[in-house]
Amino acid sequence: MPDYRHIFLCTGKTCSGQGAEESLQALRGQLQEKNLKNTRLTLVRCLGQCGNGPNMVIYGSQEPTEGTWYGGLVEDEIDLLVSQHLRQGKILSHRIITPVDV
Ligand code: FES
Repeated sequence: MPDYRHIFLCTGKTCSGQGAEESLQALRGQLQEKNLKNTRLTLVRCLGQCGNGPNMVIYGSQEPTEGTWYGGLVEDEIDLLVSQHLRQGKILSHRIITPVDV
């Protein structure tokens, strides 16, 4: 099975108020520009981590079972996240969050 990733980006009310829509547009642009195969993007309404938003979690064959969670996303770092995480497999450590149960 080829490597794959599934990105869940929150565009719920709280994350949108923190800039999720701008990050979404940047992410869509980067995924198209970099022509990443086997990468799926799904929008969700809440990941239950509103205080850390905007949030995303990435699951996939190269990710930990619990996924890789990012918070505090900013539009200007989406290209870095795509280049570093999705293309090189290196986490963007300063945006990593540990999800808390709610
Ligand atoms: S609205 Fe995004 S985590 Fe709740």
